[in-house]
Amino acid sequence: MQQPARSISTNQTGIHQNLQKVVTRQLLSVSQRPLSSHTQQAFEEAINWLGKWQGELILDSCCGVGESTVNIAQAHPNARVIGIDKSALRTDKHTSYASALQNYLVLRADLNDFLRLLVANDKKLTKHYLLYPNPYPKSAHLQRRWYATSALKDILELGGILEVRSNWQLYIQEFSAALDIAHVKNQIALFESDKAMTPFERKYWQSGQSSWQLTAHL
Ligand SMILES: C[S@@+](CC[C@H](N)C(=O)[O-])C[C@H]1O[C@@H](n2cnc3c(N)ncnc32)[C@H](O)[C@@H]1O
Repeated sequence: MQQPARSISTNQTGIHQNLQKVVTRQLLSVSQRPLSSHTQQAFEEAINWLGKWQGELILDSCCGVGESTVNIAQAHPNARVIGIDKSALRTDKHTSYASALQNYLVLRADLNDFLRLLVANDKKLTKHYLLYPNPYPKSAHLQRRWYATSALKDILELGGILEVRSNWQLYIQEFSAALDIAHVKNQIALFESDKAMTPFERKYWQSGQSSWQLTAHL
């Protein structure tokens, strides 16, 4: 039987006091970290799969087992959808969620590197989903949250409509504050739907937790 999802426990009482400083620094930073070879290979696979594709391109970042990637591909039959997750344990399980749809790909890759490669190759997104990223709720772990890393700059550069969901309201509020710092308009709302789009979303809702959503036109 599935364990109920634990609710978020944090030592933060509001927006992190260092958010402004960290986000401002990250927006000016250039990552010098060497790219992982497995992500370079995954990127080449994505580029080969895309071929001469010039149409809508959607990224499902941190897609886990890729259930959301299939749902997005179904909802956007005229788009190509790429799901990325760093965990082989999760992407290997995609076979249980796979569909016969031809317009999506689930790849194991490190998102930081994959985003950098997309930017370096002048790719632009029409939509970008980031559904239930690891929240890292301890105050000391601020710099592990996506909006407080150098990936934020790449996310902004890739453009499209960004959709982020979390069961931790503060994560969404801080993401929104980070976008404000970058002068990007965004909206926050409680997210409800009849059907969960991902396994984590399903688990949270079954445990009585709510989802918060941020959207922004980048
Ligand atoms: C809480 S799970 C959510 C998975 C899925 N989106 C869902 O809602 O079911 C967070 C996912 O982020 C992935 N992740 C964390 N850091 C990552 C990174 N640097 N690159 C790619 N995936 C990452 C983890 O492997 C994990 O599958």
